Amino acid sequence: MRIIEDFQLKGQNTFGLDIKAKYYAEISKIDEIKELYSSYSSSPIMILGGGSNILFSKDYDGLMIKNLIKGIKKVYENEDIVLIEAGAGEVWEDFVQYTVDNNWGGLENLSLIPGTVGASPIQNIGAYGTEIKDVFEELKGYNLETGEVSAFSLAQCRFGYRDSVFKRELKGKFVVTSVTYRLCKNPQIDIKYEALRSELEKLGIESPTVKQVSEIVCNIRRSKLPDPKIVGNAGSFFKNPEISDSHYQKLLSLHNDIPGYKTGNNTIKVPAGWLIQKCGWRGKRLGNVGVYDKQALVLVNYGGADGNEIIKLSENIKESVKKEFDIWLETEVNIV
Ligand code: FAD
Ligand code: EPU
Repeated sequence: MRIIEDFQLKGQNTFGLDIKAKYYAEISKIDEIKELYSSYSSSPIMILGGGSNILFSKDYDGLMIKNLIKGIKKVYENEDIVLIEAGAGEVWEDFVQYTVDNNWGGLENLSLIPGTVGASPIQNIGAYGTEIKDVFEELKGYNLETGEVSAFSLAQCRFGYRDSVFKRELKGKFVVTSVTYRLCKNPQIDIKYEALRSELEKLGIESPTVKQVSEIVCNIRRSKLPDPKIVGNAGSFFKNPEISDSHYQKLLSLHNDIPGYKTGNNTIKVPAGWLIQKCGWRGKRLGNVGVYDKQALVLVNYGGADGNEIIKLSENIKESVKKEFDIWLETEVNIV
C-alpha cells in the first residue's frame, strides 16, 4: 500500500479547497486499515469518502484514508424484499442506479446525492421525503481501537435528522466498511414531498415507476443545486432548524409567508433557505465565496477560496438569521 506525503486534496473535496493531507493512503480491504492503524496510531486519522460533506479550514495534519472498499451483493431475498450489501467505497449514485435498474424500491428519492455508500449512514442522508434510516438494515464497522468488525442495527445507529451515533459518541472510532439496505420488490412509491408531487402532476404521471421518480428527482436537483465540478460546494451548509410552536406562531405574526412543517407535538421545521433568503443573502458574493443564487442554503467557492472565508461567511449568515428570527442555525457540513 502506498502512503503519500503532503497529498493535494483539491480534487478530493467538493468545495475544491486547495489543502493538503500530511499522509494519504487508499484502502480497498479491511486488512489494509489494520496495517495502517498499527503504523500511524499516534497521528490523527480521518476517513475520506467523496469529500462532499467536509469543509477543510486548514491542511490535515494526520493520515487521511480514502475508502475504496467495493462490491455489491444480494444477501437475502424473498418474494417481497431484497437485502443488498454494498461496500463503503461504492459511489452512492452508482449504487442507487443499480437498485433503480433492478426496479427495487427504496432509494429512488435519494438519487444524485454525491458521495459514497460508507458515508450515507454517518449523517443519515435524506432528500425528497426519504432518509436512509427508512430502508436501512445494518452496517459493518471496523473498530479502529480493537481491530474488530461489528454489525450495527438500525436502533444502534441512533439515526436522527442529519445525525447518527457516528457523528456523536462514536465519532472517528469506526470505519464503515459496508452498508446493507432493505429494498422492496413491489415498490411503494413515496411522493409526499411537494416539489416531487407537483413535478409528477405537471408531467401527468399518476403511478410513477421507481425509474421515473429517480429521473424526476435528478432533474429537480440539477435545476436547484450547483454541480461541484463547476462551482465548489457541499450541498446544504446548515440544517433546517426545528423551533417550538409558540416561536413559530410569533414569527408567523411578523412574516405571514414563513413556511413551516410540523415535526412533533410542539415542533415546527422551518426551511433555513427561506430564512437566509429573507435576510438578503441569496445570490450575494463576497470575494471568492458566496450564497448560491438558486438555493440560499448552499454556500459556494467560486474558485481560489480559503476554507476560513467560507466559515466567516457562514458566521455572518448565522448572526443575521439570529438577529432577524431569533434562530441559531446549526452547521450541517463537517468542519475539519
Ligand atoms: P465525506 O464528505 O468524504 O465524509 C463525510 C463525513 O463522513 C466525514 O466526517 C468522514 O470522515 C465520514 N466518513 C466518510 N466515509 C466514512 C466511512 N466509510 N466510515 C466512517 N466515516 C466515514 N446530503 C444529504 O443528506 N442530502 C442531500 O440531498 C445532499 N445533497 C448534496 C448535494 C450536493 C451538490 C453536495 C455537494 C452534497 C450534498 N449532500 C447531501 C451532502 C453529501 O453528499 C452527503 O453527506 C454524503 O453522504 C457525503 O458522502 P462522502 O462520501 O462525500 O463523505
Ligand atoms: N427556500 C427558499 N429559498 C431558498 C431555498 C429554499 O425560500 O433559497 C424554501 C422554499 O420555501 C422551499 C423550501 O425552502 O419550498 C425547501 O427547499 P428545498 O426543497 O430546496 O429543500 P431544503 O429544505 O432547502 C433539504 C435538504 C436537502 C435536500 C432537499 C430535498 C437539509 C439541510 N437540506 O433542503 O439536502 O436535498 O431538502 O429534500 O435538510 C444536503 O443535505 O446537503 C441537501 C442538499
